Amino acid sequence: MERSLTMELVRVTEAAALKSARWMGRGKKEEADDAATSAMRDVFDTIPMKGTVVIGEGEMDEAPMLYIGEKLGNGYGPRVDVAVDPLEGTNIVAQGTWNALAVIAIADHGALLHAPDMYMDKIAVGPEAVGKVDINASIADNLKAVAEAKNKDVEDVVAIVLNRKRHEGIIEEIRQAGARIKLIPDGDVAAAINTAFDHTGVDILFGSGGAPEGVLAAAALKCLGGEIQGKLLPANDEELERCKSMGIEDIDKVLYMDDFCSGDDAIFAATGVTDGELLQGVQFKGTKATTQTVVMRAKSGTVRFIDGDHSLKKKPNLVIRP
Ligand code: FBP
Repeated sequence: MERSLTMELVRVTEAAALKSARWMGRGKKEEADDAATSAMRDVFDTIPMKGTVVIGEGEMDEAPMLYIGEKLGNGYGPRVDVAVDPLEGTNIVAQGTWNALAVIAIADHGALLHAPDMYMDKIAVGPEAVGKVDINASIADNLKAVAEAKNKDVEDVVAIVLNRKRHEGIIEEIRQAGARIKLIPDGDVAAAINTAFDHTGVDILFGSGGAPEGVLAAAALKCLGGEIQGKLLPANDEELERCKSMGIEDIDKVLYMDDFCSGDDAIFAATGVTDGELLQGVQFKGTKATTQTVVMRAKSGTVRFIDGDHSLKKKPNLVIRP
C-alpha cells in the first residue's frame, strides 16, 4: 500500500463525520447513518486505489452503497480490502451522547477477515497487555493479567463493557474481582481502541458486539500494537452455516490478530462525530466546522491526530440542515 493513502482516508472519514454530525440528538439514527454513508461513498471515487468492500453496510441486496463486494476507488493504485463503518454508533448520534465515530480500515487484498454480520465475543487490550490475556480464561484471571502487565492493582483496572442484559454475568464477575467498570451504551470500536491510549483510562474490553466492528477494532489495534481476540456467536442455523461457509467449522475457534488482519500492513482512520475520550466530535462554528481524526499505519507504527478546519462557506453542502 502507498503511504499517501493515509491522508486520503482522513478525507473519507472527515466527510462522513461532517455530514452525520448534523443529525446529532435529532433521534434519527437511520438518517444519520445514510448521511455518513453517502458522504463517504462520494469521496471514495477520488482515491487512487482498487478497493473492494469486505466489511460494509450489508450485502449487495440490502445496502445501496458501500455493500460487501462493491468496488471503490478511481481504479488506479494498489489492490486493497476495505472495511468501513461510516457511522459507528448510530444511536449515539441520534441521542447526542459519547464516542460516535466515522471509521475506515484498509489492508492488502485478502488480508481482512470477511466477518459475517453477527455477534462476536471479544476481549481487547493495549500494547502492555498483549500476549497476557486469553478469551478462554476467566474474567478474574484476565483482570489480574492486565493489572500485572500494567503494574497496577486489580482494583485500579478499568474494564469497558457494553451496557447490555447479556453482559450481566460479565459485569458481576468484574465486580467480584474488584475492578472498576465503564458501562457504555454503544460503540465498542472506540472502546477497544481506547484500551491502547493510557489517557482514556480504559484497560480492557470485555463482552460481545458486532463481528464486523471486531475487524475494524483489530485493524486499529494492529497499528497501535494492541490485541483483540474474538469468537463468533452464531445465533441460529443460518448464522452457523455462514460461519462454516467462511471456513470456521469449530464455533469455539478463537480468532487472533492475524485471523482478523493478516500481513504486516493496515491503515486505519477514525473521525469523531460526537465527543469521546480520544477524539472531539464535529463542532459547527458558523463559518467553519472542526473535526478531529486519528489516522495510523501498522507498517510504520505512525499514529497521527489531525485537526481539520472545514470552511462552511466554500462547501455549501455542509450547511444544509436536515
Ligand atoms: P451501530 O452503529 O450499527 O448502531 O452499532 C453500534 C454498536 O454499539 C457497536 O459498537 C457494537 O458492536 C454493536 O452496536 C452492539 O450491538 P447491540 O446494540 O445489538 O448490542
